[in-house]
Amino acid sequence: MNQISLKVPPHIPPHLVYDFDHFDAPELLNDPQRRVPARLHGEAPPIFWTPRQGGYWVVTRAALALEMTRDIEKFSSLPAYNKAKDFHPPMLPIQSDPPLHNEYRRILNPIFAPGPIKKLEGMIRDLVRQIIDPIIPRGHCDFLLEIAEIFPVIMFLRIIGAPEEDRHKLVPIAQKYTRSPIFEERAQAIADFGAYLKSGFDARRDQDGDDLLSRVARGRIDGRALSAVEEEGLGVLLLLAGLDTVKSAMSFAVANLARHPNLYKQIVEDPSKIPAAVEELLRVGGVSTPERGATGDFEWHGVPFRKNDRIVMLYQLYGVDDQWVENPQEIRFDREVSNHLAFGSGPHRCIGSHLARLEFKVFLEEWTKSVPVFSMEVNGPLKTTCGIVWSPEELNLVWPVQS
Ligand code: HEM
Repeated sequence: MNQISLKVPPHIPPHLVYDFDHFDAPELLNDPQRRVPARLHGEAPPIFWTPRQGGYWVVTRAALALEMTRDIEKFSSLPAYNKAKDFHPPMLPIQSDPPLHNEYRRILNPIFAPGPIKKLEGMIRDLVRQIIDPIIPRGHCDFLLEIAEIFPVIMFLRIIGAPEEDRHKLVPIAQKYTRSPIFEERAQAIADFGAYLKSGFDARRDQDGDDLLSRVARGRIDGRALSAVEEEGLGVLLLLAGLDTVKSAMSFAVANLARHPNLYKQIVEDPSKIPAAVEELLRVGGVSTPERGATGDFEWHGVPFRKNDRIVMLYQLYGVDDQWVENPQEIRFDREVSNHLAFGSGPHRCIGSHLARLEFKVFLEEWTKSVPVFSMEVNGPLKTTCGIVWSPEELNLVWPVQS
């Protein structure tokens, strides 16, 4: 185990201390989904305490993460138990616990349920074609800038009823929140989103629009209207999730396909394998790092938690946990089930998962039709920028131009 000179609180047993910074570990600079699990599953305790960033626990194994996310009595998402997440407005529904959490989900569920999301398929397909058709004859692209930062982001702005050009101001704010190691910068990003949303909600208040923000603005809990803070909090999390996670996850998935031409060939030849491919690519390409706070002093799996201890869940680790998945780093589209927690578990499980999956599926259906073979412009490690959400830093693709 590595040596640590930083201060460790007295309740932490020395054998559970392990030096790791989830914003600054060297393994985060390239191929993190292979290198971080190799290090942490190889040498860290299943739950360890790192003194970095003011000190926090990290959970490395899927079985523990599954149990922890379901035990909201002990492990809460409320900022009251985790000062590292004490933002204004709070991000809702993630930073709420049941029963209020159920009420927020009740407002959002009809929008994100499988049925209503399926109805967007035609619009998603048209948008994908609109974006990739001008690029394909060229034989190369900057996937991040020309596709990933445009397709899911425009789709999401359409769902919330915001102008598409707003992406130029919103994407940098999302990136500041998800990649900055500095709390004040993250808090400022949330406040900036809050201010952007406030004017959006005000404009929709007495309208009967069908977009996401109008529907949130009409939301009721026990007959009362949502407060301005609740409205903004719901909007902030949706903005963050809609603008950054799909972009990042889709980019890792495409990078993996570029590196494994035999796997890509399987979905080109048989597009019915695309849904299984999406799950498998999500399994090895998790991006999110949500947190919890301990609600009291208790022992859990031999670990002494104290009230307000911060807990970071590296959801990237669980789909490649060798105690949960056989040969976890092997990508195979014929697994019976691709076990992963890329969308979390428990009451806070991702509400946008049906949308994200559909976007992935439709993108791959259209891309495979038009680009039967492609690769990365430069082979080698995939450079990444990692923080609360992990993302490739650049992803330049090339393919033979068909005459
Ligand atoms: C591939 C893309 C995505 C990934 C990997 C992802 C990942 C996650 C994860 C891991 C959680 C659980 C957080 C926790 O346990 O605290 C979560 C929650 C959430 N996600 Fe996603 N997400 C994605 C796309 C989306 C999209 C497109 C939306 C909405 C437009 C969305 C909205 C949300 C919301 C609102 C929550 C909070 C749910 C709650 O607290 O009840 N996500 N997401």
